[in-house]
Amino acid sequence: MGDPKQPSAGAPPPAPGPLGASSGSSGGQGSSERRAAWTLGALLQWTQTKFQSAGISNARLDAEHLLAFAIGCSRMTLYVEHDRPVDDAQRARFRELVKRRLTREPVAYIEGKRGFHALDLELAVDRRVLVPRPETEHLVDWMLEDLVDASGAVIDVGTGSGAIALAIKHRRRDLDVTAVDVSTDALDVARANAERLALDVGLVRSDLLADVSPPAGGWRAIAANLPYIATAELATLEPEVSVHEPRLALDGGADGLDLIRRLIAQIVQPGVLAPGGAVYLEVGYDQAARVADLLRAHGLAADVRADHSRVPRVVRGRVG
Ligand SMILES: C[S@@+](CC[C@H](N)C(=O)[O-])C[C@H]1O[C@@H](n2cnc3c(N)ncnc32)[C@H](O)[C@@H]1O
Repeated sequence: MGDPKQPSAGAPPPAPGPLGASSGSSGGQGSSERRAAWTLGALLQWTQTKFQSAGISNARLDAEHLLAFAIGCSRMTLYVEHDRPVDDAQRARFRELVKRRLTREPVAYIEGKRGFHALDLELAVDRRVLVPRPETEHLVDWMLEDLVDASGAVIDVGTGSGAIALAIKHRRRDLDVTAVDVSTDALDVARANAERLALDVGLVRSDLLADVSPPAGGWRAIAANLPYIATAELATLEPEVSVHEPRLALDGGADGLDLIRRLIAQIVQPGVLAPGGAVYLEVGYDQAARVADLLRAHGLAADVRADHSRVPRVVRGRVG
């Protein structure tokens, strides 16, 4: 899920000036002249500065995303047509998006979507589910590599928006893919994504693997990006995470590993993992060695892969 560790920013600044009637601009210019001055390029620059002063990390990128979304154009258009005037209706739409972002609501929730797995999949997301992270794509890639010559059934535990299960099914229609979550809200989001993308994934409400039976012969692969933030760390995360994302998707207990420990104990029960099968666990930046040790202590062979920032991010446990 990524480890955003920046401290909370303060209260959002006042409503943005050039975006609406509250601009407070009272120079000698007439209102039509003032409006005409707001081009795509000028709005982008103004919003970037506003976001930076609010402590938003990717100020420029977020401003681009929201302006392109409000106008209904690509981010490229913002540059190619930087001197295009922005009309009142577009500015009003943009103003609402900027206000939401200044409360530190994630861009993905504001847009209602997030690209996942090399942007092959566009997933609908909202505050019922974690925003899928690029780190999780490493888990998907590793599974797909291992499954290249395999057939059978795979399961995604804690599916949220359906990201992992749908990315696997999208690439491998022949696999039997199941996705479980304890949250019925999350399952509703995953189901809507599966239907819109026409991907046939079984969706089951389950506390980890407790409420789902393994297929005959066991799961060929088990994927899990479970909550792994230590409870005490939650309050130190950026407000995008700590305020807006579901706590059920984040809180991994005292050391962050409560859910992962429980899942490993379930996986090593007879008949759960197929011979030659493997579990793929996404973990926090400092947890890979501990999780690998846990897997080994349960008789599995463990290895680790790093993410694009060279953080050990995915731990694989294989039946020896
Ligand atoms: C970090 S989110 C990951 C979501 C998604 N897999 C992704 O990678 O974007 C963890 C998910 O695990 C679910 N979860 C939490 N506790 C669970 C449990 N005991 N059993 C099943 N799912 C659980 C949460 O509801 C949440 O959707």
